[in-house]
Amino acid sequence: MQLGIIGTGQMGGMLTTAFAKIKQPQLVIFNRTAGKAAMIQQKYPDQIQIADSMESIITTSDFLFLCLKSTDTQHWLLKWGDMLKSNQCLIMTTSQIPIAVAESLTVSQIAKVIPSITQYALSGYLLYALGPRTEEMTRAVLFQLLSQIGMPLAIDENKTRIYADLSSCGPAFFATMIHLMAEEAEKKGVPSHTAELIIVQTLMGTIHLIKDHHFTLEDIIQKVSVPGGVTEAGVILLQQALPNTFHELFEATELRHTEINTSS
Ligand SMILES: NC(=O)c1ccc[n+]([C@@H]2O[C@H](COP(=O)([O-])OP(=O)(O)OC[C@H]3O[C@@H](n4cnc5c(N)ncnc54)[C@H](OP(=O)(O)O)[C@@H]3O)[C@@H](O)[C@H]2O)c1
Repeated sequence: MQLGIIGTGQMGGMLTTAFAKIKQPQLVIFNRTAGKAAMIQQKYPDQIQIADSMESIITTSDFLFLCLKSTDTQHWLLKWGDMLKSNQCLIMTTSQIPIAVAESLTVSQIAKVIPSITQYALSGYLLYALGPRTEEMTRAVLFQLLSQIGMPLAIDENKTRIYADLSSCGPAFFATMIHLMAEEAEKKGVPSHTAELIIVQTLMGTIHLIKDHHFTLEDIIQKVSVPGGVTEAGVILLQQALPNTFHELFEATELRHTEINTSS
Protein backbone atom coordinates (compact mmCIF):
# COMPACT_ATOMS: atom_id res chain seq x y z
CA MET A 1 0.00 0.00 0.00
CA GLN A 2 1.51 3.32 -1.08
CA LEU A 3 1.02 6.45 1.00
CA GLY A 4 1.53 9.64 -0.99
CA ILE A 5 1.91 13.18 0.37
CA ILE A 6 1.57 16.19 -1.93
CA GLY A 7 2.85 19.46 -0.48
CA THR A 8 5.66 19.34 2.05
CA GLY A 9 5.02 22.65 3.81
CA GLN A 10 4.22 22.82 7.53
CA MET A 11 1.55 20.10 7.56
CA GLY A 12 2.79 17.90 4.72
CA GLY A 13 6.33 18.11 6.10
CA MET A 14 5.10 17.23 9.58
CA LEU A 15 3.00 14.28 8.33
CA THR A 16 5.93 13.03 6.22
CA THR A 17 8.23 13.20 9.24
CA ALA A 18 5.70 11.47 11.50
CA PHE A 19 5.10 8.62 9.00
CA ALA A 20 8.86 8.29 8.42
CA LYS A 21 9.43 8.08 12.18
CA ILE A 22 7.05 5.13 12.47
CA LYS A 23 8.71 3.56 9.41
CA GLN A 24 5.57 3.57 7.30
CA PRO A 25 6.47 1.53 4.21
CA GLN A 26 6.06 2.95 0.68
CA LEU A 27 6.01 6.61 1.70
CA VAL A 28 6.24 8.84 -1.37
CA ILE A 29 6.22 12.66 -1.42
CA PHE A 30 5.99 15.39 -4.01
CA ASN A 31 6.34 19.15 -3.66
CA ARG A 32 6.09 22.04 -6.11
CA THR A 33 9.48 23.28 -4.90
CA ALA A 34 11.54 20.10 -5.27
CA GLY A 35 14.32 21.25 -2.94
CA LYS A 36 11.96 21.31 0.08
CA ALA A 37 10.92 17.70 -0.50
CA ALA A 38 14.59 16.73 -0.95
CA MET A 39 15.52 18.29 2.41
CA ILE A 40 12.96 16.12 4.22
CA GLN A 41 13.88 13.01 2.24
CA GLN A 42 17.57 13.46 3.19
CA LYS A 43 16.63 13.16 6.86
CA TYR A 44 14.94 9.77 6.31
CA PRO A 45 16.54 8.41 3.11
CA ASP A 46 15.50 4.81 3.82
CA GLN A 47 11.87 5.70 4.53
CA ILE A 48 10.94 8.36 1.99
CA GLN A 49 10.92 8.34 -1.79
CA ILE A 50 10.38 11.41 -3.95
CA ALA A 51 7.94 10.96 -6.84
CA ASP A 52 9.21 11.84 -10.33
CA SER A 53 6.11 13.86 -11.11
CA MET A 54 2.64 14.85 -9.94
CA GLU A 55 1.21 12.28 -12.38
CA SER A 56 3.26 9.46 -10.90
CA ILE A 57 2.33 10.14 -7.24
CA ILE A 58 -1.34 10.45 -8.21
CA THR A 59 -1.49 7.22 -10.17
CA THR A 60 0.53 5.07 -7.73
CA SER A 61 -0.80 6.15 -4.32
CA ASP A 62 -3.57 4.25 -2.55
CA PHE A 63 -3.89 6.96 0.10
CA LEU A 64 -2.97 10.46 -1.04
CA PHE A 65 -2.64 13.34 1.42
CA LEU A 66 -3.16 16.72 -0.22
CA CYS A 67 -1.52 19.27 2.09
CA LEU A 68 -2.17 22.54 0.26
CA LYS A 69 -3.93 25.76 1.22
CA SER A 70 -7.64 25.90 0.36
CA THR A 71 -7.36 27.85 -2.92
CA ASP A 72 -4.53 25.61 -4.12
CA THR A 73 -6.51 22.51 -3.08
CA GLN A 74 -9.43 23.65 -5.21
CA HIS A 75 -7.15 24.39 -8.20
CA TRP A 76 -5.43 21.04 -7.71
CA LEU A 77 -8.76 19.20 -7.73
CA LEU A 78 -9.82 20.98 -10.93
CA LYS A 79 -6.53 20.14 -12.63
CA TRP A 80 -5.80 16.63 -11.35
CA GLY A 81 -9.06 15.31 -9.89
CA ASP A 82 -9.85 13.36 -13.08
CA MET A 83 -6.71 11.24 -12.70
CA LEU A 84 -7.82 9.66 -9.44
CA LYS A 85 -9.70 6.33 -9.43
CA SER A 86 -12.58 5.16 -7.27
CA ASN A 87 -10.38 2.70 -5.34
CA GLN A 88 -8.07 5.53 -4.17
CA CYS A 89 -8.58 7.77 -1.15
CA LEU A 90 -7.76 11.47 -1.33
CA ILE A 91 -7.22 13.08 2.06
CA MET A 92 -7.44 16.87 2.27
CA THR A 93 -5.86 18.70 5.21
CA THR A 94 -7.64 21.97 4.53
CA SER A 95 -10.71 22.64 6.64
CA GLN A 96 -12.07 25.07 4.03
CA ILE A 97 -13.11 22.79 1.15
CA PRO A 98 -16.27 20.76 1.85
CA ILE A 99 -16.00 17.05 1.15
CA ALA A 100 -19.03 17.36 -1.16
CA VAL A 101 -17.15 19.89 -3.33
CA ALA A 102 -14.15 17.57 -3.59
CA GLU A 103 -16.44 14.64 -4.44
CA SER A 104 -17.90 16.64 -7.31
CA LEU A 105 -14.43 17.01 -8.84
CA THR A 106 -13.17 13.42 -8.64
CA VAL A 107 -14.47 9.86 -8.44
CA SER A 108 -12.04 8.92 -5.66
CA GLN A 109 -13.03 8.37 -2.05
CA ILE A 110 -12.57 11.54 0.00
CA ALA A 111 -11.50 12.10 3.59
CA LYS A 112 -10.67 15.25 5.45
CA VAL A 113 -7.95 15.03 8.09
CA ILE A 114 -7.03 18.04 10.19
CA PRO A 115 -3.67 17.32 11.80
CA SER A 116 -1.99 19.16 14.64
CA ILE A 117 1.67 20.10 14.94
CA THR A 118 1.67 17.80 18.00
CA GLN A 119 1.98 14.85 15.61
CA TYR A 120 5.68 15.75 15.34
CA ALA A 121 5.72 14.17 18.80
CA LEU A 122 3.37 11.37 17.63
CA SER A 123 0.70 12.68 20.00
CA GLY A 124 -2.45 14.80 20.06
CA TYR A 125 -5.67 14.48 18.09
CA LEU A 126 -6.05 14.18 14.33
CA LEU A 127 -9.58 15.23 13.44
CA TYR A 128 -11.17 13.40 10.55
CA ALA A 129 -14.38 13.32 8.56
CA LEU A 130 -15.18 10.87 5.78
CA GLY A 131 -17.18 11.33 2.60
CA PRO A 132 -20.15 9.05 1.89
CA ARG A 133 -18.17 7.24 -0.83
CA THR A 134 -15.53 6.05 1.63
CA GLU A 135 -15.54 2.26 1.77
CA GLU A 136 -15.40 0.26 5.01
CA MET A 137 -11.91 -1.09 4.26
CA THR A 138 -10.62 2.40 3.46
CA ARG A 139 -12.02 3.68 6.77
CA ALA A 140 -10.32 0.89 8.69
CA VAL A 141 -6.93 1.33 7.02
CA LEU A 142 -7.02 5.13 7.36
CA PHE A 143 -7.92 4.85 11.04
CA GLN A 144 -5.07 2.44 11.59
CA LEU A 145 -2.65 4.74 9.72
CA LEU A 146 -3.66 7.80 11.73
CA SER A 147 -3.56 5.88 15.02
CA GLN A 148 0.16 5.37 14.59
CA ILE A 149 0.97 9.09 14.60
CA GLY A 150 -1.69 10.45 16.97
CA MET A 151 -5.24 9.93 18.19
CA PRO A 152 -7.83 10.00 15.38
CA LEU A 153 -11.12 11.63 16.34
CA ALA A 154 -14.13 11.44 14.00
CA ILE A 155 -15.98 14.75 13.85
CA ASP A 156 -19.01 16.21 12.11
CA GLU A 157 -17.54 18.06 9.12
CA ASN A 158 -19.81 21.05 9.84
CA LYS A 159 -18.12 21.47 13.23
CA THR A 160 -14.56 21.37 11.89
CA ARG A 161 -13.79 25.02 12.75
CA ILE A 162 -14.39 24.79 16.50
CA TYR A 163 -12.73 21.37 16.81
CA ALA A 164 -9.72 22.63 14.85
CA ASP A 165 -9.47 25.68 17.13
CA LEU A 166 -8.88 23.26 20.01
CA SER A 167 -6.53 20.72 18.42
CA SER A 168 -4.79 22.44 15.50
CA CYS A 169 -4.74 26.09 16.55
CA GLY A 170 -4.42 25.05 20.22
CA PRO A 171 -0.60 24.73 20.28
CA ALA A 172 -0.23 28.29 18.95
CA PHE A 173 -2.82 29.59 21.42
CA PHE A 174 -1.10 27.89 24.37
CA ALA A 175 2.33 29.16 23.26
CA THR A 176 0.94 32.70 22.96
CA MET A 177 -0.59 32.52 26.46
CA ILE A 178 2.72 31.29 27.94
CA HIS A 179 4.59 34.03 26.16
CA LEU A 180 2.26 36.76 27.42
CA MET A 181 2.30 35.41 30.99
CA ALA A 182 6.12 35.43 30.90
CA GLU A 183 6.19 39.02 29.59
CA GLU A 184 4.01 40.16 32.49
CA ALA A 185 6.24 38.26 34.95
CA GLU A 186 9.24 40.11 33.51
CA LYS A 187 7.62 43.40 34.53
CA LYS A 188 7.63 42.02 38.09
CA GLY A 189 11.36 41.16 37.92
CA VAL A 190 11.62 37.60 36.51
CA PRO A 191 13.58 37.46 33.23
CA SER A 192 11.04 36.43 30.55
CA HIS A 193 13.19 33.49 29.41
CA THR A 194 13.29 32.14 32.98
CA ALA A 195 9.57 32.76 33.37
CA GLU A 196 8.85 30.84 30.14
CA LEU A 197 10.93 27.89 31.37
CA ILE A 198 9.10 27.86 34.70
CA ILE A 199 5.67 28.04 33.05
CA VAL A 200 6.50 25.32 30.50
CA GLN A 201 7.90 23.00 33.17
CA THR A 202 4.88 23.67 35.41
CA LEU A 203 2.56 22.94 32.49
CA MET A 204 4.39 19.71 31.74
CA GLY A 205 4.16 18.71 35.39
CA THR A 206 0.42 19.49 35.39
CA ILE A 207 -0.09 17.36 32.26
CA HIS A 208 1.91 14.59 33.97
CA LEU A 209 -0.54 14.74 36.90
CA ILE A 210 -3.51 14.45 34.56
CA LYS A 211 -2.03 11.78 32.30
CA ASP A 212 -0.18 9.52 34.71
CA HIS A 213 -1.70 10.27 38.10
CA HIS A 214 -5.33 10.60 37.01
CA PHE A 215 -5.89 14.06 38.46
CA THR A 216 -8.92 15.82 37.02
CA LEU A 217 -8.83 19.55 36.27
CA GLU A 218 -11.13 20.04 39.29
CA ASP A 219 -8.71 18.06 41.53
CA ILE A 220 -5.87 20.36 40.53
CA ILE A 221 -7.82 23.57 41.11
CA GLN A 222 -9.16 22.33 44.43
CA LYS A 223 -5.73 21.17 45.73
CA VAL A 224 -3.88 24.37 44.76
CA SER A 225 -6.57 26.98 45.23
CA VAL A 226 -7.05 27.17 48.99
CA PRO A 227 -10.25 29.09 49.95
CA GLY A 228 -9.33 32.68 50.75
CA GLY A 229 -5.75 32.22 49.48
CA VAL A 230 -3.76 33.95 46.75
CA THR A 231 -4.33 31.26 44.08
CA GLU A 232 -8.06 31.52 44.59
CA ALA A 233 -7.85 35.27 43.94
CA GLY A 234 -6.18 34.52 40.61
CA VAL A 235 -8.61 31.72 39.73
CA ILE A 236 -11.59 33.99 40.38
CA LEU A 237 -10.09 36.67 38.14
CA LEU A 238 -9.50 34.15 35.32
CA GLN A 239 -13.04 32.83 35.68
CA GLN A 240 -14.33 36.38 35.22
CA ALA A 241 -12.02 37.47 32.39
CA LEU A 242 -11.42 34.43 30.19
CA PRO A 243 -14.90 33.26 29.07
CA ASN A 244 -15.30 36.48 27.08
CA THR A 245 -11.77 36.22 25.69
CA PHE A 246 -12.41 32.64 24.49
CA HIS A 247 -15.80 33.64 23.10
CA GLU A 248 -14.10 36.39 21.08
CA LEU A 249 -11.29 34.05 20.05
CA PHE A 250 -13.72 31.51 18.57
CA GLU A 251 -15.61 34.35 16.86
CA ALA A 252 -12.34 35.68 15.38
CA THR A 253 -11.31 32.32 13.90
CA GLU A 254 -14.82 31.75 12.53
CA LEU A 255 -14.81 35.20 10.91
CA ARG A 256 -11.39 34.64 9.33
CA HIS A 257 -12.52 31.21 8.10
CA THR A 258 -15.48 32.86 6.35
CA GLU A 259 -13.31 35.65 4.89
CA ILE A 260 -10.86 33.11 3.42
CA ASN A 261 -13.74 31.08 1.96
CA THR A 262 -15.39 34.06 0.31
CA SER A 263 -12.10 35.42 -1.12
CA SER A 264 -11.14 32.09 -2.78
N1 LIG B 1 -0.30 24.68 9.85
C1 LIG B 1 -1.16 24.03 10.64
O1 LIG B 1 -0.99 23.91 11.86
C2 LIG B 1 -2.38 23.35 10.01
C3 LIG B 1 -3.17 22.53 10.82
C4 LIG B 1 -4.25 21.85 10.25
C5 LIG B 1 -4.54 22.02 8.89
N2 LIG B 1 -3.77 22.87 8.14
C6 LIG B 1 -4.12 23.02 6.72
O2 LIG B 1 -3.18 22.29 5.95
C7 LIG B 1 -3.00 22.94 4.69
C8 LIG B 1 -1.52 23.21 4.47
O3 LIG B 1 -1.10 24.12 5.46
P1 LIG B 1 0.44 24.38 5.75
O4 LIG B 1 0.50 25.12 7.03
O5 LIG B 1 1.20 23.10 5.60
O6 LIG B 1 0.80 25.36 4.52
P2 LIG B 1 2.25 25.71 3.95
O7 LIG B 1 3.30 25.45 4.96
O8 LIG B 1 2.14 27.07 3.36
O9 LIG B 1 2.45 24.67 2.76
C9 LIG B 1 1.73 24.79 1.57
C10 LIG B 1 2.21 23.73 0.59
O10 LIG B 1 1.47 23.92 -0.61
C11 LIG B 1 2.36 23.95 -1.71
N3 LIG B 1 1.79 24.80 -2.75
C12 LIG B 1 1.48 26.11 -2.66
N4 LIG B 1 0.92 26.54 -3.80
C13 LIG B 1 0.87 25.46 -4.63
C14 LIG B 1 0.41 25.27 -5.95
N5 LIG B 1 -0.13 26.27 -6.64
N6 LIG B 1 0.54 24.03 -6.48
C15 LIG B 1 1.09 23.02 -5.79
N7 LIG B 1 1.55 23.15 -4.52
C16 LIG B 1 1.44 24.36 -3.95
C17 LIG B 1 3.63 24.53 -1.15
O11 LIG B 1 4.69 24.20 -2.01
P3 LIG B 1 6.04 25.09 -2.10
O12 LIG B 1 6.94 24.50 -1.08
O13 LIG B 1 6.47 24.91 -3.48
O14 LIG B 1 5.63 26.51 -1.76
C18 LIG B 1 3.68 23.84 0.22
O15 LIG B 1 4.19 22.54 0.09
C19 LIG B 1 -3.81 24.24 4.73
O16 LIG B 1 -5.02 24.04 4.05
C20 LIG B 1 -4.03 24.46 6.20
O17 LIG B 1 -5.25 25.15 6.45
C21 LIG B 1 -2.69 23.50 8.65
